[in-house]
Amino acid sequence: MGEVKYSSRTHYCGELSLKDVGKKVVLMGWVQRRRDHGGLIFIDLRDRNGLVQAVVDPIKQPEAFSIAEKIRGEYVLTIKGEVAERPLGTVNPRLSTGEVEVVISEINVLSSAKTPPFEIGEGIGVEESLRLKYRYLDLRRPDMAENLILRYKVVKTARNFLDKQRFIEIETPILTKSTPEGARDYLVPSRLQPGHFYALPQSPQLFKQLLMVAGFDRYYQIARCFRDEDLRADRQPEHTQIDIEMSFVKQDNIIELVEDMMSEIFTFLGFELKTPFLRISYDESTERFGTDKPDLRYGLEIFDVSSVFASSQFKVFADAISKQGIIAGLTAPGCAKYSRKQIDDLVKFATEQGAKGLVWLTVEAQDELKAPIAKFLSSREMSQLISCSGAKEKDLILLVADEKAKALEVLGRLREKLGCDLNLINKEEFKFVWVLDFPLFEWDEEEKRYKSHHHPFTAPVEETISWLGKDPLKVKAHAYDLVLNGVEIGGGSIRIYERNLQDRIFHILGLSDEDIKVKFGFLLEAFQYGTPPHGGIAFGLDRLIMLLARRETIRDTIAFPKTQSASCLMTGAPDEVDEKQLKELNIKLK
Ligand code: AMO
Ligand code: AMP
Repeated sequence: MGEVKYSSRTHYCGELSLKDVGKKVVLMGWVQRRRDHGGLIFIDLRDRNGLVQAVVDPIKQPEAFSIAEKIRGEYVLTIKGEVAERPLGTVNPRLSTGEVEVVISEINVLSSAKTPPFEIGEGIGVEESLRLKYRYLDLRRPDMAENLILRYKVVKTARNFLDKQRFIEIETPILTKSTPEGARDYLVPSRLQPGHFYALPQSPQLFKQLLMVAGFDRYYQIARCFRDEDLRADRQPEHTQIDIEMSFVKQDNIIELVEDMMSEIFTFLGFELKTPFLRISYDESTERFGTDKPDLRYGLEIFDVSSVFASSQFKVFADAISKQGIIAGLTAPGCAKYSRKQIDDLVKFATEQGAKGLVWLTVEAQDELKAPIAKFLSSREMSQLISCSGAKEKDLILLVADEKAKALEVLGRLREKLGCDLNLINKEEFKFVWVLDFPLFEWDEEEKRYKSHHHPFTAPVEETISWLGKDPLKVKAHAYDLVLNGVEIGGGSIRIYERNLQDRIFHILGLSDEDIKVKFGFLLEAFQYGTPPHGGIAFGLDRLIMLLARRETIRDTIAFPKTQSASCLMTGAPDEVDEKQLKELNIKLK
């Protein structure tokens, strides 16, 4: 990186190495540690790029030494000195600057510091609420600083890539109208129009489509999106998307563009990616892995044995079959040795996920199964079960009987649990997969109406359009999700660009003509003025960085994130407001 301009500082601490030996440097940073040792004082000076050891000698530099004696952790200093090779035997191989040290000639204290509420070090177990309250201190920790630097580099690589492919970055409004992505909106009251509200965008979806109508045929934006959802490790009330839209493209064009962009990002970070990525259909994904976001770093696939038990004597199985359900399962390798307690825990886990129960059988010998329900199984059923499950001696077979979607969902969760419990996941690996051919609609049992699986602007697959009038659940979507290690990192679709078709979809979703006019009239109107065929995708930047940084939560990839209850522990947001402000906004609290 070399020297720093526009400051009297000459170098970043973490960038000094043997090639700088003999250079006079001026460093600015925070005191990680002061050690008094054999008459000398050592100061580990830290900035955002790392640490370097500095040393002061009482005889050669009495003035600097007397300042050093008073220095404490987190003081901000200017250190002037000369880079020297460390004496033999004092090299620190764990530090990138461990072969050198700075021999101090002058120290200036720029700022003193209170004792911080937690030690600023790597991987030190500090409660997250404390880290969030003092986030500016938490971000001094090298691993957290690295995450933000990684994030910046990924965005920069994506921007460079998209620029080369002739995309234009365009901003879209934050104060806007509701965009339907399926979450609740954050609303902002209008002062000038009492009783009216802006919605913060759940995504730039409508605007990017309108930009296609406007003729900006390749658009992107690093876009902040707001969704009032229940929060989880990979969900924040505001998240950032790498948002892309293109005109005159087919699904495969977008898939190839994304694979090239991911390759560029991963190559830049030193990982090699194999493209094209694997592609599987939504149906295949749910049938084999019990989810539309499969983690392909391990096998452990679901098998269906409904046909084996078509005329079962076991009531649970017979009931499921009579209700058009399925009997499906997983083979847990080597788990026949599980204790009763371990098995009970699996049963408990399955019922917590909504299963009515969990049948378990251990494989004792080549074709001998042991289980409480064994007495209900014929020898044909046993041997077919063993062969369908692929189970071997010492394995444990787990079966769920239920309605198809429910059984697969429970087994999907069980698969994830076993993947972790049995240590089947190679944490070093990155496994991408495209999930394609999603259903266009899903049925919302609570509201008794169809909902879009993605969003209402997704185009149906031509060959399935005829089902729109007869059985909407059979219509497939031109939609694609990119899944990495079991996390949905991106999703998009080819869009509808014809007014009539868009109208039909809105009607199936239960919107009245009036609703359509009020909510999307401007979009439908725009579509009448020459709309190019178009499609796009958006990536969850926070999630991508979480996976790249091998973190468990996206909070570790965001400078100032919010908690589970959507609050900021540092600023205290959300907060109460003045009576006067409410009055101006024409708002009365209940
Ligand atoms: P979608 O709703 O799938 O698509 O969002 C795109 C990606 O954004 C990420 N994401 C989130 N990350 C963190 N916190 C959240 N609350 C959150 N919600 C979503 C996910 C997801 O894959 N307009 C469409 C895209 C398109 O069709 O072009 C959209 O927003 O990684
Ligand atoms: P029951 O007849 O309800 O006592 O259940 C007998 C066994 O079958 C128990 O081990 C249950 O856990 C299991 N079981 C019950 N319902 C189901 C189901 N739908 N799928 C799988 N196993 C089940």
